[in-house]
Amino acid sequence: MISQESCPSHVGIIMDGNGRWAKNRGQIRSVGHKEGLTAAKAIVKAASDMGLKNLSLYVFSTENWKRTEDEISFLMVLIKSYLKKEYQFYKDNSIRVVHSGDLERLPSDIQKELSSVMEQTSHFKGLTVNLLINYGGQDEIVRAVNRHIHENPDTDLTVDELQSHLDNPDLPPVDLLIRTGGEKRISNFLIWQTAYAELYFSQKLWPDWSAEDLREAVDSFKNRDRRFGGVKK
Ligand code: IPE
Ligand code: IPE
Ligand code: MG
Repeated sequence: MISQESCPSHVGIIMDGNGRWAKNRGQIRSVGHKEGLTAAKAIVKAASDMGLKNLSLYVFSTENWKRTEDEISFLMVLIKSYLKKEYQFYKDNSIRVVHSGDLERLPSDIQKELSSVMEQTSHFKGLTVNLLINYGGQDEIVRAVNRHIHENPDTDLTVDELQSHLDNPDLPPVDLLIRTGGEKRISNFLIWQTAYAELYFSQKLWPDWSAEDLREAVDSFKNRDRRFGGVKK
């Protein structure tokens, strides 16, 4: 367990590098995605063991529909099988699963599995895992604005009002944003929620990530001097 005081209350991870990991081994991209799923499971367990409260994982972006049909359908099958199989794991570790993204544009079997796992785990009080599937930060903000317009067409938006229409309004802001795979960009990940996030970039490709890497990232967060626009006392 890490002390709650210095602990990021919300960690976000852009899990990148599966394709390159496979390519480096002369394998097809789907092999990398499979290994990426194994890494994701290990990181969820590690986050839960460390006592983290909220973990957002970027699984499939609104831009990832640009990939080949083969790669997309492999990813969808992988996501579905993962959602189906892990209930016992969530129960044993008291993990609550939530989803961010546009559910309506996902295949109906994935919608069903997601709804069912969210309902089954909704009362668990340990780590909350937020799965970003068919997620884009810009898309989430547009959907939030549209919800506001439908509910209150005559009132101006405020920061709090927009926040209340996000996919998971109760999640705290992201404190620590991690990106693996060496790229230094946001790629439309939780752009509203990362407004004041500390950034951590890892050269390692996602399938090579382990509990130790997560610990290193969280340790580095503890040494950051966060000022939020103020002046250090
Ligand atoms: C991240 O790995 C997984 C998804 C985006 C679904 P990539 O598939 O982007 O792997 P690289 O970046 O091509 O190596
Ligand atoms: C971001 O990775 C999306 C996920 C990890 C799900 P990408 O590989 O899609 O991002 P770009 O294309 O490098 O920006
Ligand atoms: Mg990538």
